[in-house]
Amino acid sequence: MKNLFVKTSKPYDVKIGAGEINNLADYIKQVKNCNKIAIITDDVVGGLYGKKIKDILCDYDVCYHEFLHGEGHKTMDTVSSLLEFLAQNKLTRSDLVVALGGGIAGDVAGFVSASFLRGIDFVQIPTTLLSMVDSSVGGKTGVNLSCGKNLAGAFHQPCLVVCDPDFLATLPDEEFKNGLGEVIKYGCISDKNLFDLLATQDVHANLEEVIYTCIKIKADFVEQDEFDKGERQKLNFGHTLGHAVEKVTDFKIPHGQAVGVGMKLICQWAENQNLTAKGCADKIDGMLAKYNMVRDVNCDKKLLWQTVTNDKKLKGKQIDLVLIKDIADCILYRTNIDDLTK
Ligand SMILES: NC(=O)c1ccc[n+]([C@@H]2O[C@H](COP(=O)([O-])OP(=O)(O)OC[C@H]3O[C@@H](n4cnc5c(N)ncnc54)[C@H](O)[C@@H]3O)[C@@H](O)[C@H]2O)c1
Ligand SMILES: [Zn+2]
Repeated sequence: MKNLFVKTSKPYDVKIGAGEINNLADYIKQVKNCNKIAIITDDVVGGLYGKKIKDILCDYDVCYHEFLHGEGHKTMDTVSSLLEFLAQNKLTRSDLVVALGGGIAGDVAGFVSASFLRGIDFVQIPTTLLSMVDSSVGGKTGVNLSCGKNLAGAFHQPCLVVCDPDFLATLPDEEFKNGLGEVIKYGCISDKNLFDLLATQDVHANLEEVIYTCIKIKADFVEQDEFDKGERQKLNFGHTLGHAVEKVTDFKIPHGQAVGVGMKLICQWAENQNLTAKGCADKIDGMLAKYNMVRDVNCDKKLLWQTVTNDKKLKGKQIDLVLIKDIADCILYRTNIDDLTK
């Protein structure tokens, strides 16, 4: 088992290791003296693992709620029914919420925990690769509004994260690739060894090590910039164009794979502008090919940039781009949006 201590305003442990979920009750005892636990999950993860988690927590007074899986249910309606569920079960601030599932369950249950009684503690149990390496650590929670993704939310750090790679045995391949997009991103922005390992070996044979390394990188950025005002923006490498890829393909290319293409395209753009040396775009393309991921998007690149300029992060005519000068050498680069379509 590997342990990572995340030093945010409210610090917490991330336990990483195969079979660690079986120690969940012990780990909870170490962080909170509570009687009642509310497990929140989606229907797919609930069907697979709901009973197992209830059994592991059998010493507690457990209540349990499943909501329907999928981005379409990451909504205020779901939040509303979950808040009612916690209230009906009379949870108090001495009790605990357990978020079991992928990034959606974590984001929704985290937001519900941030708002119920103005904030109760919650534990993240990520079950997708993406949620293990990304969403379960860092404290960003929230839901979608009809105008866009993640528009309502709160910073609310978990009190514990238990990350057990054994959950990934049932994860569909496409969902694994989704997480892999973010894993490759961590290599690109800050760890050449990780990038080389992914390029030369099979990620499946090194899962625990890879997940640990990614969480460590994410935690380092979060500790430096908990509320996302500067350094943490580097975690958005590949995301500016990635979000545009998602939008122009009407979300047919899922997020992690869109980020993969976005990383390659932003490197191509920076290399063509002579802002960075040539080479990274090809390396990323080779990685996407190796893992059979989406490598390009069939549309005019100008359309992608136009989609970017409608992005919520724009400050007037300026845009902050995350570029890499080399693998693991990441910079923030502010430019004028008119330069993007050159
Ligand atoms: N809070 C953050 O910092 C942050 C960061 C990145 C992404 N996100 C959010 O995360 C969400 C995406 O997360 P995701 O990719 O984990 O999606 P997800 O939660 O929808 O999970 C993907 C699918 O896999 C299923 N699933 C989950 N675990 C499984 C398992 N072990 N076996 C079989 N099936 C399983 C789920 O039911 C779902 O259908 C997005 O809404 C995104 O906005 C948040
Ligand atoms: Zn992402």
